[in-house]
Amino acid sequence: MKKTIRDLPADLRGKRVLARFDLNVGIDETTGEIRNDRRIRASLPTLTNLLERGAAVIAMSHLGRPKPGADPSKNAPFAMDRVAARISEYLRQPVTKANDVVGEDARKKVAALQPGQCLLLENVRFHPFEQPLKKEGATEAEMAAHEAGMKSLAEELAAFGDIYVNDAFGTLQNKDVSVLALPKAMTGRPRVMGLLVEKELQIIDQLLDRAERPLVGIMGGAKVSDKIKFLQVLLQKVDRLLIGGKMTYTFLKAEGKSVGAMTIDANDETLVRGIDPALRSKVVVPRDFVVAHRDDLSRVQTAEDFVPDDFQGVDTGPKTVEEYRRILAEARTIIWNGPLGWFERPPFDRATRAIAETLAERAQAGATVVVGGGETAEAVEEFGLAEKMTHVSTGGGAFLKYVEERKFKTLDVLDDR
Ligand code: 3PG
Repeated sequence: MKKTIRDLPADLRGKRVLARFDLNVGIDETTGEIRNDRRIRASLPTLTNLLERGAAVIAMSHLGRPKPGADPSKNAPFAMDRVAARISEYLRQPVTKANDVVGEDARKKVAALQPGQCLLLENVRFHPFEQPLKKEGATEAEMAAHEAGMKSLAEELAAFGDIYVNDAFGTLQNKDVSVLALPKAMTGRPRVMGLLVEKELQIIDQLLDRAERPLVGIMGGAKVSDKIKFLQVLLQKVDRLLIGGKMTYTFLKAEGKSVGAMTIDANDETLVRGIDPALRSKVVVPRDFVVAHRDDLSRVQTAEDFVPDDFQGVDTGPKTVEEYRRILAEARTIIWNGPLGWFERPPFDRATRAIAETLAERAQAGATVVVGGGETAEAVEEFGLAEKMTHVSTGGGAFLKYVEERKFKTLDVLDDR
C-alpha cells in the first residue's frame, strides 16, 4: 500500500510541496478557452487539503500536446494562465503562475511562495526535456543527450520541493519527468499520492475484486487491438459484456456477416476470432444497427443482422438498446468504456444517450456505475449526467491501463506505508 497525503505530518507549514496534477482540461485549441474543467475540480480536494495544512504548493501539469520550442503563438493556447485563473476562482484565493517551468521566473516565484499559497508552473510540456524523445531514427548520441536533459530537469524541479505528491491519475501511464524521474530524484524526501489517485485506484480495485453481482461491462470504441487486453481482463470478471460502437462490426465480420462499406482491420478480426469460446459466450453483440449511406450521411435506415452494401454502421440499433436496458436493469455493478455510436454527431448519439440515461437511473437506484474517462466521460458530461453516476474516471488511457495491469511504474516510486 502506498502512502497518501494523509500520511504526511498534519502541519505542513514551512514545507514546499511539489504536486503533480492532471490539469489537462478540454480546451479550444485555437483560443485556449476551457471547455470542460472536470479535471480541475477533481484536483481540488488534494490541493485544498495541502493548502489548509499550511503547505506552500508548487502545482504542475501538462496541458494538451504542445511542441516544445515551437512558434510561441502556436503554443499559446496551451499556456496555463486560464487554468491558474480557474483554480483561483474555485479556491477563492490568488494563484500565481510562473511563465516557465524551471527558469528564472519559476525560481523567483518559488522562493517568494508563503505557507498556504499556491504557485502553478507553466505547462511542463513547454520544456524540451519533460517527455522522452519521440524522434524516429534518433542517434545514440541524441538519445543520451536527451536523457541527460531529462535528468537535469528532474533535479532542477526536485530542488523546488521538500515533499512530492502525485495526484495526476490521468497521466500515471506516462514516462514523463514530472511523474517518473522527478520522484526518483526526490528519494529520501516524502513522496506520496493524492486523494484523487487513491480514489480512482480504490474504485477500480473494488470493481474488479469485490463487485456486487451481476457485474455487467459495456464496451465500445473503434479498434479492437487497442482494447483487446482490457476486453480480455473484463471478460474474466464480468457476467455479461455488451458490445457497442464501431467495435460491433469487427464482431459481425468475424461471424461472417456483411459489414457494408466499413473496412475492418484484419488483425482486429483475428483477435476477435481468438477469444476463448467460454468467455465469448458472455459477449452480447448488437443485432440491429443504425446505418448511413457512405456518400450521403442523411440517408439513414436501420438494419438487422448485417449491414447492406454501401451503408455503414453509425449507431447501435433501437432493439439492441432495449435488450441492453433489460440486462442493465438487473445489474448491481456496471463498468462502461467507449461510446455506442458516433455520439459527437447527432442523431447518431441516440444509443449512447439512452445507455447513459439508463446508467444514471441505475446509479440513482443504488447500483454501482463506473464510467471510464476519455470519450465516454465526455459523452456523459455532454448529456449532463456525470454527477448522477457513482464515478466518472478522470483517466482515459490510465483507466484502461490500470484495469489491464493493476500497477504503474509512476506509483512504484512512491513511498510504501
Ligand atoms: C489524458 O488526457 O489522457 C492525460 O492527460 C494524458 O495526456 P497524454 O495522452 O497527452 O499523455
